[in-house]
Amino acid sequence: MMTPVLTEAQLAQFHNDGFVVLPKFASDEACLALRDRAMQLAKEHVPSPEQATIFTADSTAKHAADQYFLTSGDKIRCFFEKDAFDEHGKLRAEAHLCLNKLGHAMHDLDPQFSKFSHNEKLASLANQIGMQEPKLLQSMYIFKQPRIGGEVNCHTDHTFLWTEPQSVVGFWFAIDDATTENGCMWALPGGHRIPVKSRSRVNADRTASYMEVFDETPYPTEGLVPLEAERGTLVLLNGTLPHLSGPNTSDKPRHAYTIHAIDSHANYPADNWLQRPSLVMAGFND
Ligand code: FE2
Repeated sequence: MMTPVLTEAQLAQFHNDGFVVLPKFASDEACLALRDRAMQLAKEHVPSPEQATIFTADSTAKHAADQYFLTSGDKIRCFFEKDAFDEHGKLRAEAHLCLNKLGHAMHDLDPQFSKFSHNEKLASLANQIGMQEPKLLQSMYIFKQPRIGGEVNCHTDHTFLWTEPQSVVGFWFAIDDATTENGCMWALPGGHRIPVKSRSRVNADRTASYMEVFDETPYPTEGLVPLEAERGTLVLLNGTLPHLSGPNTSDKPRHAYTIHAIDSHANYPADNWLQRPSLVMAGFND
């Protein structure tokens, strides 16, 4: 039997609200080490100006950008903020200053990210919230840069990481303090009970994704609560919980790291955008 991580009250809160905020889950030291490593990975994996022109040049840009994204499930890739490149494919600032995020397999491919992502405490937590055989599907390191860090619209993670039955859980770590000024997450307590309104799928030749919409009505905005979080806080998110984050209008960075885990007992469809042909999914304990 694993040592429980959540109190009874926290577990009840997770089930009632669809999320729970766990301050001081990770140490400052571990967060800062991950932060340094992310900066380094950004430098190592930044596309060359030759590669980058494909994102900016012309009508082929959309196709190339789609391919770069759709094949990133088993790689470490850089995704940039809008207008990060000039018309010659040259970055307007140093890579680590105009990145939106790194994705989507740092937890498998980089030893430091792997160490942060796999431990007994996370295994125990996943077990406690009822995951039978949790497997780490994807990781993202989100930079949310000062002044240019964009907003993320209201969505559920199940829309993008669909399983049957629904099983995805988001593990969101504050690497910097997240506040309403620098674009913290917002969530709708109890909103995980609203039937999911859409599902993202890829076409047969995996060249583009499209949205299958079940319900056109937007999620309610009334009742959204800010999830302010100090460095080291873990926010656990049910996959059907509507959440969003605002733009970063402050001069402070708001780095965060997320892991999305699914239950290996659930079916993972072949037309989900994220596929990992070169990597087997591991558990938190592996
Ligand atoms: Fe999300």
